Amino acid sequence: MPFATWMELLEYARWAPSPHNIQAWLFRLESEDRATLMYNPQRLLPGTDPTGRFTAVGFGLLNETLSIAAAPLGLDVVFDYLGVPLDVNATGPQPYATMTLVKRARPESLPRQLILDRRTSRLPYHDVPVSPEVLTELSSVAATFGHVLEFSTDPKQVGWVVRLNADTMFFDMSDPVARNEVGSWIRYSRREADRKADGLAAYAMLFPGLMMKLFVRCNWLFRIPGIYYLVRALYERTMRGTRTVAWLSGDFDTPESWHRAGRMLGRLWLTMTRHGVYLHPFGSVITNKTSHARMTDHFANAEREHDLWLLVRLGHSNLPPQAQRLTVEQLLVR
Ligand SMILES: Cc1cc2nc3c(=O)[nH]c(=O)nc-3n(C[C@H](O)[C@H](O)[C@H](O)COP(=O)(O)O)c2cc1C
Repeated sequence: MPFATWMELLEYARWAPSPHNIQAWLFRLESEDRATLMYNPQRLLPGTDPTGRFTAVGFGLLNETLSIAAAPLGLDVVFDYLGVPLDVNATGPQPYATMTLVKRARPESLPRQLILDRRTSRLPYHDVPVSPEVLTELSSVAATFGHVLEFSTDPKQVGWVVRLNADTMFFDMSDPVARNEVGSWIRYSRREADRKADGLAAYAMLFPGLMMKLFVRCNWLFRIPGIYYLVRALYERTMRGTRTVAWLSGDFDTPESWHRAGRMLGRLWLTMTRHGVYLHPFGSVITNKTSHARMTDHFANAEREHDLWLLVRLGHSNLPPQAQRLTVEQLLVR
């Protein structure tokens, strides 16, 4: 088969996580060892991620996923970023980086099966904190990339983080720009989720599709105090059993640094998967300026060198539903 190695690697790469499951990546296979990573301008998030930093984190996650997938073949994948900003007004697939298959120089400790096992868990967690040994290992993974992972198992801090995320969700959904953008990525029915194989499926968000549709289309309803408190309580209930929260800081100022942060997050997430720990990123706490400022104030630390760029909860849960993905065939640019 032509491009057999690329096709094998892309079968893993397509499972890389991206914000709202946008899967903005496309691939043009040039030769047996070279390919162009492209982005689809129609799959960007101009409203909630105008600089493209979280989308770039997604490309970094893809990079790390490909590198881990290539390890059993004795290969590695080198990305060369082309220095182009993500342009929402561009027409058609746009080159973003070149990818070269090279002989592997360093051993890989993570088995690639983890890529297929990893999932976001928005389920209630099992009321057990993540073990100190695992947290120490996770901090050292972050440190390898120059990032700092801080965490807390203090119920007061956990409660504060869960409430901040809920505040952010309700605030974002009352803002027309965020609501319309997030709403365009929600897949309300199982049928729509199966057909589009992307976005935020209601079944993966653990909310009935009809309720999510009302939330997006008739948001005023959810600002009526009684309804607001009821739905908010229901939402916070989905986070019950959370005993560990964590936040990340590190260089996050340039497209190259967003990519590197994504590589770090990819390795961090798969390390969690190896230990049976699930992750639920609260990315919207960062993209929402007010929530980001509240978080920065709350976790202020004069010794911290860089700003916080991600807040998460992590823990043990039942097996979460699987978010779908586009096929490799759909991701190829001919
Ligand atoms: C940078 C980044 C930010 C994310 N932020 C959120 C978030 O705010 N809330 C949430 O529920 N999921 C968040 N996610 C999880 C994605 O929605 C999830 O990875 C995607 O839907 C694919 O699902 P999977 O991880 O189960 O494969 C984020 C993921 C990434 C990579």
